[in-house]
Amino acid sequence: MPPSRLSSLLSILTVSLVLNAFTVAAIPAYQSLAGVSERDLGDILNSLVPRTPAPPPGPMDFLGTKLVNDPAHPFIAPKPTDMRGPCPGLNTLANHGYIPRNGIATPAQLIIGVQEGFNMENIVARFTTYVNHLIDGNLVTDLISIGDKTLKTGIPPPPPALVAGMNNHGTFEGDASLTRGDAFFGDNHSFSPELFEQFKNFSSVYGGGYFNLTAAAELRAHRYHQSIQTNPEFRFMGLRHITAFAEASFPAVFFTDGRRTEPGEKFHLDMVTAERFLKEMHMPDDFHRPAQPIQGESGFLFTHRPIQPGRNANGVNTFQVDESLGSLVDFCGFYTQFVNVTVRGFYPNPKGVLKRNLNINLQFLYDNLPVPPPNPCTQVFPYGRD
Ligand code: HEM
Ligand SMILES: *[C@@H]1O[C@H](CO)[C@@H](O)[C@H](O)[C@H]1NC(C)=O
Ligand SMILES: *[C@@H]1O[C@H](CO)[C@@H](O)[C@H](O)[C@H]1NC(C)=O
Ligand SMILES: *[C@@H]1O[C@H](CO)[C@@H](O)[C@H](O)[C@H]1NC(C)=O
Ligand SMILES: *[C@@H]1O[C@H](CO)[C@@H](O)[C@H](O)[C@H]1NC(C)=O
Repeated sequence: MPPSRLSSLLSILTVSLVLNAFTVAAIPAYQSLAGVSERDLGDILNSLVPRTPAPPPGPMDFLGTKLVNDPAHPFIAPKPTDMRGPCPGLNTLANHGYIPRNGIATPAQLIIGVQEGFNMENIVARFTTYVNHLIDGNLVTDLISIGDKTLKTGIPPPPPALVAGMNNHGTFEGDASLTRGDAFFGDNHSFSPELFEQFKNFSSVYGGGYFNLTAAAELRAHRYHQSIQTNPEFRFMGLRHITAFAEASFPAVFFTDGRRTEPGEKFHLDMVTAERFLKEMHMPDDFHRPAQPIQGESGFLFTHRPIQPGRNANGVNTFQVDESLGSLVDFCGFYTQFVNVTVRGFYPNPKGVLKRNLNINLQFLYDNLPVPPPNPCTQVFPYGRD
């Protein structure tokens, strides 16, 4: 690294440290900057600037289906330095340039990308984004990694903050995913060929060869029981109880071509397309996004196969129901515990820009809880109201 670059990097670091009341001790948690390429260094320098979060983007003007694997969004395989993680939807959007191809994005970029590329409904896109950003993102620089923890989102606030990207286990990423293994067994985010075999089996038995919502509900419940029986550290509480049902419906509702709208073909995903998205994270040729904004079908899945929040308390097959962090059927309980326990646990005493941006993102979260209006949850202010 040229000395001039190094000194400007250090001066920006210093400014950012002072501005944000960070401790220098946060730095050694990362690899040395030596060996970082020029281009990556540019990304890092750019990301170190504290930012005021932009207001959440609204719905798109056009809400119907359209060609999304278009010439402006070609598939380009990620470079080794690009971040990819546990979400096949976001990985696909990065591979097609709907969100930055390096896998580092602002919340606003994620919201626009999931709407444009997959027609995700606005409130759901906002909620999913802010809940992720508050626990896995860098709140000062307003950047989040869709995969591993990285300096490319800027210097993180000191522990207990994690700022560990979406790969991090136990924040948003969780157990009993349909096609990714539990973190206890090692890798918590890569496509698993064995689990995809099971996905195909369930589609064959319950969906007539398609992954439809019945197959999704059966596989969601089956993966839960598999984890109870094999993962001594299985946890399925609070946020995970909410996201696991939505996500399990996502392959059927988002990856089925939006021109397939007739009963018996709507939300019926064929196995070739399933593999293309879940394994290659590549839109098929001529792929059209869903025909209307999609919220997910967690209600259908939960009603078909209700499973309770909880955890293995003492090894495999010791599952105990635990509703202390809320659940799909106790949304305000989830919201309160998420803000007052989870977020406050990572940020016990924030100051300066960090505190300001925490409050801004917490407001965005509260304003976008996916509950029928008027908002039934009482707002929580762990850091005061300013
Ligand atoms: C801003 C919006 C989104 C965020 C922040 C997000 C993030 C995540 C994360 C962190 C996971 C891992 C959870 C786990 O299984 O442990 C996940 C799973 C998943 N996401 Fe997304 N996601 C978003 C939107 C989407 C969209 C639009 C799609 C589909 C087009 C999608 C499809 C999926 C699927 C299918 C899974 C489950 C994979 C499995 O169970 O094997 N997501 N998402
Ligand atoms: C999840 O995967 C990431 C990336 O491989 C790894 O760094 C992390 O340690 C894993 N988490 C657990 C709990 O295994
Ligand atoms: C899928 O079904 C086949 C045929 O019944 C069976 O041999 C195989 O073990 C099943 N695989 C999984 C992963 O369940
Ligand atoms: C899924 O497919 C199976 C087999 O064709 C069918 O019995 C079931 O009703 C379908 N489920 C939904 C929700 O369409
Ligand atoms: C938040 O946590 C504090 C301290 O643990 C507690 O006193 C307060 O009642 C909690 N607020 C809510 C709304 O649960």
